[in-house]
Amino acid sequence: MNLNEIIQKDKMYFMNTFGNRTPVAFNYGRGMYLYSTDNRQFLDFMGGIAVSALGHSHPLLVDAISEQARKLIHCSSLYYIESQAKLAEVICKASCADKVFFSNSGAEANEGAIKLARMYHRKKGNEDKFEIVTLENSFHGRTLATIAATGQDKYQKPYNPLTPKFKSVPMDNMAALEAAVNENTCAIMLEPIQGESGVNPVSLDYIKSVRNLCYEKDIVLIFDEVQCGMGRTGKLFAYEHFGVEPDIFTLAKALGGGFPIGALCAKDYVASAFSPGDHGSTFGGNPLACEAGLAVFRAIKEEYLVENCERMGLYLIGKLNALKMKFGIVSEVRGSGLMIGIEFNSDIAVEVKDKLFDRNILIGSVKTKIIRLLPPLIVSKEHIDTLCSNLGEVLHEITGGHSG
Ligand SMILES: Cc1ncc(COP(=O)(O)O)c(C=O)c1O
Repeated sequence: MNLNEIIQKDKMYFMNTFGNRTPVAFNYGRGMYLYSTDNRQFLDFMGGIAVSALGHSHPLLVDAISEQARKLIHCSSLYYIESQAKLAEVICKASCADKVFFSNSGAEANEGAIKLARMYHRKKGNEDKFEIVTLENSFHGRTLATIAATGQDKYQKPYNPLTPKFKSVPMDNMAALEAAVNENTCAIMLEPIQGESGVNPVSLDYIKSVRNLCYEKDIVLIFDEVQCGMGRTGKLFAYEHFGVEPDIFTLAKALGGGFPIGALCAKDYVASAFSPGDHGSTFGGNPLACEAGLAVFRAIKEEYLVENCERMGLYLIGKLNALKMKFGIVSEVRGSGLMIGIEFNSDIAVEVKDKLFDRNILIGSVKTKIIRLLPPLIVSKEHIDTLCSNLGEVLHEITGGHSG
């Protein structure tokens, strides 16, 4: 089918929750590149929204999935699964978690985290301790509970009445958080670096104070690392930047390198609150998904992708700051590793994204002023140079050469 035929069929049969998508369909991908049905080669700085950490069609991942698919795709968790046990071990040995449960997505992992935090207090006899505090501008997913956790009106309004007992407070404001917490607060849930709302890192002091508050008041601290985990920020897990450990953290996106899998990871004292029957999933942690996860961890280790992410992130941020110096229209470059937001001081984000698309480069935009870069962790200096020279030319076109 050509692109027009695909678009016609999509409009006729697919529920329109994405609006007008970028007019392209991809046939295949290799490394940093995606290839479209109309024979264009795109340099991918969006990585399937922080999913394709190994790039596209990484041989380790492709082989792991194909070999496992030939052996056994699914059997259900009624039975023991070797790759499930192994992947849980890999995550526990690499992180502060003692136990892991696998889901199929980030929202589901967060839903599990919310359930586990509630169960932790219930099992201790605190039946009324079920309120959850989150941060404004957060994003935790699209299920009803995770929408209630997501501190953004635009996601919540259409689904009123929301799942009760969630409230969100401004980031980096300890007084607001302390005022929101009471004897019924069960958990505080946050992204160490907010992704969807434009790459907003939480400050070091704030996270440390939140950690202390949680210890003091027996509140479960949940970090949503669905986007910022798995090496994305230049550490395997984002919490490592802050020198604090959450009681629960969640993963998804890059965990399967594109194969759907999420993980709910917890310290033993919280994880042990789940008894048989308290939680479950038909697909979660099936042999195929877990082999994908194992291949991703293997590639990250063998190819030093966290180290590459840290190095390339610094290189990219340096080049973007040079563009900021040159073009007054760039107001801020922020982020960590290869999770980067660029804020403009006027509404040009979509124009920048579209102009880079015309030049065969994929990036993301957030609202009207921010663009977001989430390239695969295999990105090299050459790819970054290509992005930055094109971005410089686009900013030159938009500003009419007035560097400001
Ligand atoms: C921080 C964060 N949490 C949760 C989610 C939801 O993940 P999923 O779309 O896999 O349900 C996302 C997705 O963008 C996310 O960025």
